[in-house]
Amino acid sequence: MLEEGVLALLRGHGEGHLSGEAMSRTLAVSRAAVWKAVEALRRDGYQITSAPNRGYRLAGGPDRIRAGELAGALAGRTVGRELVCLETVDSTNTEVKRRAAAGAAEGLAVLAEGQTAGRGRRGRSFQSLSGKGLYLSVLLRPAVSLAELSQLTAWTAVAVCRGIQSCCGAEPQIKWTNDILLNGKKLCGVLTELELEAESAAPSHVVVGLGVNVSQTAADFGPELADIATSLELEGFSVRRAELAGQILAALDDLYAAFPAGKADYLSDYRARCATTGREVLLLRGDAQVPAFAEAVDDDFGLVVRCPDGRRETEIGRAHVRTPVTYAALVCRL
Ligand code: BTN
Repeated sequence: MLEEGVLALLRGHGEGHLSGEAMSRTLAVSRAAVWKAVEALRRDGYQITSAPNRGYRLAGGPDRIRAGELAGALAGRTVGRELVCLETVDSTNTEVKRRAAAGAAEGLAVLAEGQTAGRGRRGRSFQSLSGKGLYLSVLLRPAVSLAELSQLTAWTAVAVCRGIQSCCGAEPQIKWTNDILLNGKKLCGVLTELELEAESAAPSHVVVGLGVNVSQTAADFGPELADIATSLELEGFSVRRAELAGQILAALDDLYAAFPAGKADYLSDYRARCATTGREVLLLRGDAQVPAFAEAVDDDFGLVVRCPDGRRETEIGRAHVRTPVTYAALVCRL
C-alpha cells in the first residue's frame, strides 16, 4: 500500500523534511496520491507536519507494527524481505507455517499486534496481550544438516539479545536453552519449529518465533506470572515496538548470514550471556526432577551438568521437531 511507502520514506528521513514531489518520484505515483497517503497516515494518528517549499516531516506517531515502520531497517536483507503485519492472528508461528506450505520464500516475517492462541514450548500457551508485546515469526530454509539445525535455537537466543540491546541498551541474559531474561525474570520466549520432508526426513524449513514483553505491567501478567516474568518497561526501558522489531529482525538476518560458519562468535556470546551455568538446576526426566549443577556450555551449545553422584552429563537443546523425538527438558532455579 502507498501509505507504507510514504511512511517508510518519512521515517527514513528522520527529523528532516521531504517534499511531496521527491516522494512522488521515488514511489512513481502522482503528488495527489502522496497527499492522500499523508492524510490517511494522519487519520491513523501520525503527526505529519508540512511546510511550504520544504515538504513533509514525521513529528511523531503511534506505536504500531506496520511495514512502513520496518522497511528502512530491513532494506536489502533476506529476513524481512516480505513483511506481513497483522492486527490479530491465532499464532504468528502457525501463520508462517501456513504460508510456508503455500510456497512462501525464506525471509518471510509475520508480525501481529496480538495473538489469540500464542504457543510456547512443550505445548504451553504464551500470553500475547494486544499492543503490549512483540510477537513475530520468521521463515528460514537453511541448507544445513539436522545436527547443525539443532543449534539454531541457541543462536536465535543470542540474536534476540543483540537486537534488544542495540534497540535500548538493556543487557539480556539467556536461560539455557533459549529463554531471554532481564534482571532474572523472563523477558522473551523463543519457539523454533522444524518441518521435515515426509519422505526423506530431510529439513524442509524452520519457523523461528519469538515473543518479547514490551510494556506489560505486573497486573497484566497476573499473579501466576508476575514473579517470574517482566517487560522492558517494568525494567525501565521505554521502546517503540516497531524499532525493536526492526533491530531484532536485522539481528536475525545477521544470524542467517553467519549460520553455521560463524559459530565461534555466537558461542562465545552465548556463554557470556548464559545465566544457567554456575547454578543448581533441576533436570526433568519424564515426571521426575533430578538435581544437578550446571557447569558449562560445551562447543555444541549443550549444557554440561554434574550429577549428585559426580557423573557428568550433557543436555542437548533441540528445536521442536514435527516428528516424535524425546529429549530432556530442563528447569533452572533462578
Ligand atoms: C516459550 O517461552 O515457551 C516460547 C514462547 C514463544 C512465543 C512466540 S510469540 C510469537 C510466536 N508465535 C507463537 O505462537 N509463539 C511464538
